Amino acid sequence: MQAISFQDVSKTYHAARGDVHALDHVSFDIEPGEFFGLLGPNGAGKTTLISILAGLARASSGRVLVHGHDVLKDYAAARRTLGIVPQELVFDPFFSVREALRIQSGYFGVRRNDAWIDELLAHLGLADKADANMRQLSGGMKRRVLVAQALVHRPPVIVLDEPTAGVDVELRQTLWQFVARLNKEGHTVLLTTHYLEEAEALCARIAMLKQGRVVALDRTSALLAGTASTMMRFKLDTPLPPQLVAQSRVTGRIVQIKAHDAREVEQVLAILHAAGCQPEDLEIGRADLENVFLEIMQGEAKPLPLKAAVTA
Ligand SMILES: Nc1ncnc2c1ncn2[C@@H]1O[C@H](COP(=O)(O)OP(=O)(O)OP(=O)(O)O)[C@@H](O)[C@H]1O
Ligand SMILES: [Mg+2]
Repeated sequence: MQAISFQDVSKTYHAARGDVHALDHVSFDIEPGEFFGLLGPNGAGKTTLISILAGLARASSGRVLVHGHDVLKDYAAARRTLGIVPQELVFDPFFSVREALRIQSGYFGVRRNDAWIDELLAHLGLADKADANMRQLSGGMKRRVLVAQALVHRPPVIVLDEPTAGVDVELRQTLWQFVARLNKEGHTVLLTTHYLEEAEALCARIAMLKQGRVVALDRTSALLAGTASTMMRFKLDTPLPPQLVAQSRVTGRIVQIKAHDAREVEQVLAILHAAGCQPEDLEIGRADLENVFLEIMQGEAKPLPLKAAVTA
């Protein structure tokens, strides 16, 4: 049995200014115990797919199963299996943190849950905020409460839609340690994030969405190996020679250029030298997930063949 099975899911929003095809025949499976990443640029359809999984939106066609439960026909069982941290900050301003977590426990029929609630509060750095009113929390703290809320009923499948947006470095690390521990204990994790170094470090397998379609689906290591290219990074105070512009990514003074081998690295350096450019802090390293992501999104790479679910 799959932890999550997306089967030919399409979603069209009918808006005043025309139809939006948010999801276009999306199919993939996530195995129990996987740490799975769902990546894609803004508007790719990640939240739409998660909303359908959560039963908050209806697919136009196709179906979604969680531990074998159809999210529409068997909503209650599917919902109990899932813990969802939503992208939007939604909360009830009238309750304290502890009250909010008790109410959420009650919603799932879990009684006498205080020991687990205390553990969640401790792990998420909220112990001293237990009695604070939700209104009094900062944005990052509200997000921590959303994470705690999603976990009150110890769901076997945890879905995190950009859980670290607006969260400080320290909590990000504690959050990942905690989620990684839950994953080791057997919980399945589905994560969306724009922090690709987080995805690279945590996710064993990744699907990339672009305009509602799956354009890559593979083990993270295979995606990284697939580009097999070398990245040159350096700082430059003068304009880049025109011959190098097409293969470069420039962020302020920092230039990144893809090269396949040592000979290409030498060629780039020769062009820079001939143009009188003086690169500073030159580093040569392997392409990371961000490079792979950009390559796939810019359509330089052929869409990878869609593999059936690979057991982790
Ligand atoms: N309720 C809605 N009505 C109409 N269009 C919508 C609605 N929700 C989302 N969309 C559209 O569907 C597409 C996918 O949006 P979605 O929120 O799923 O993207 P996303 O991948 O989660 O993006 P982000 O990284 O910004 O969170 C976008 O074009 C968006 O404008
Ligand atoms: Mg989203």
